[in-house]
Amino acid sequence: MLQKMIINGGIPLSGEVTISGSKNAALPILIASIMAPGKSEFLGVPNLMDVMTTKNLLTALGAKVTFDDAFVVDSSPINSYEAPWEDVRKMRASFLVLGALLSRFGAAKVSLPGGCSIGIRLVDQHLKGFQSLGVDIVEEHGLVIADAKNIRGGKVTFDFPTVGGTQNILMAATTIKGETIINNAAKEPEVIDLVQALRAMGAVIEGEGEETIKVQGVDELSPISYRIIQDRIEAGTYLIAAAITSGDVTIKNFPTDMLTLLVEKMEEAGVVIEQIGDSIRVKGPKRIGSIDISTQPHPGFPTDLQAPITALLTIADGTSIVTETIFENRFTHIPELIRLGADITIDGRSAIIRGVSGLSGAKVMSSDLRNSAALILAGLAAENTTEVYRLYHLERGYERMEEKLTGLGANIKKGLQDD
Ligand code: EPU
Repeated sequence: MLQKMIINGGIPLSGEVTISGSKNAALPILIASIMAPGKSEFLGVPNLMDVMTTKNLLTALGAKVTFDDAFVVDSSPINSYEAPWEDVRKMRASFLVLGALLSRFGAAKVSLPGGCSIGIRLVDQHLKGFQSLGVDIVEEHGLVIADAKNIRGGKVTFDFPTVGGTQNILMAATTIKGETIINNAAKEPEVIDLVQALRAMGAVIEGEGEETIKVQGVDELSPISYRIIQDRIEAGTYLIAAAITSGDVTIKNFPTDMLTLLVEKMEEAGVVIEQIGDSIRVKGPKRIGSIDISTQPHPGFPTDLQAPITALLTIADGTSIVTETIFENRFTHIPELIRLGADITIDGRSAIIRGVSGLSGAKVMSSDLRNSAALILAGLAAENTTEVYRLYHLERGYERMEEKLTGLGANIKKGLQDD
C-alpha cells in the first residue's frame, strides 16, 4: 500500500534540527568506490531510498556492501561491468557507473536512463565527453556500450555545466594516462566533494569549484574512509520550513557557505538568520516579503530548492516571480499548490506568484522528490489538514523528515493512502 503524509498545519516550528549527509554528494562517491578495489568506508551517508538503490547496484555488480552506521563497500569482488535498466530506471544517478566502470575495467555496458517527471534529462553531454577522450560508444537496445581501449587524456568541453556529466568524466579521467581538462565544469559542492573523495583515493585533480578542472591520470586508486558533506538542499528545506511557519528554529550543521544566495534571498524576504558556530537560528517574520528567484548552476539559486521556495512565496506579501532555467518541467507542484489556495500563473519558464494571506489544507499528489517537499512545507503553513499522496518520492531524498519535523513541534504523521 502506498503511503501519504498527513499534516495538521498552522503551528510555528521551534527547536533544533540536525542536517543529514548529502544524498547528491553520497551517490557519486559511493559509485566511485568501484574504482578503488578493496574496502572503503563512508560516513555521513543518509539512509534513503536512492542510497539503497545504489547499494543494490553495487551488489549487483559483485561488490560486498553493508550499511549500518557506516556504508562499507568491498569493491574487490566486482566482476561485472553491466548496469541493467532495472537499476538505472530507478535512479538516473546510476548512469555514473559508466565512468567508474571504464576506469576499473576499460569497458562498460550501462542502460540509457529515460526521462523523468522533471524533464527529458539527456546524457548527451556525458557521451560527448567520453568520446572526446577516445572512448568508443555504441548505443544499442537502450544500452550504452563503451569501450575504452583507445582512451587517452584530452579536452572535454561541456555545452553547459552539467553536474552528472562533470562527475562521470572526472571518474573516468582519474586513471587515464596523461592530462584531462574539463572545461565548463559544474561547480556544485557535490562535484567538489567527489573530487575530494577521489583525491583521498590517490587521484591528482586541481580546479574543483572552478570552470576548468584538470586531472592527471594515476595508475591506481586505493580504498578510503571518507565523510560525506552535509545536504545543502535538506538544510535549505528546513530553513524554508522555519520561514513558512513563522517559526524559530536552530539548524545545526548548516552549510552556510554552500547556500549563500538562499540565505541572502531569505534575508531580503524578511527572515532573520543568525549564525552561531556551525548552526544558524532562523526566525520567520509574521508575513514573508515577496522576492524574485531564477534557478542557475551553482553558485546561483539551486533548482532543487525552487519548489520549496515557491511554496513559501505563495503566502508572501506581494507578487514574486520564480524562473526555472535548469529543468524544463519542474513546475508540477504548482497545480497542487493552487489546490491549497495559492494564486499562481505560469508564463513559460516563470511562475508568477501573487501572495495570498493563507493556504487551506487539501489532498495533494506529489510527483517528484522536491515537489513533495514543497507540498509538505505548504501543508505545514496551511489551515486544517493537508494530505500529500505518493510519499515514496519524498523518501528518495529526505532522511526521517516526519521525525525531524515532529521534533520541531509539527503535527505530522504517515498514513496509508486510500487507493
Ligand atoms: N542535461 C542534458 N544533457 C546531459 C546532461 C544534462 O541535456 O548530458 C540537462 C538535464 O536534462 C537537465 C540539465 O541539463 O535539464 C541539468 O542536468 P545536470 O547534469 O546538471 O544534473 P544531474 O546531474 O542530472 C544533479 C542532481 C539533481 C539536480 C541537478 C542540478 C544528483 C543525483 N542529481 O542532476 O538533483 O537537480 O544536478 O543541480 O546529483 C534532486 O536531488 O532532486 C535532483 C534532481
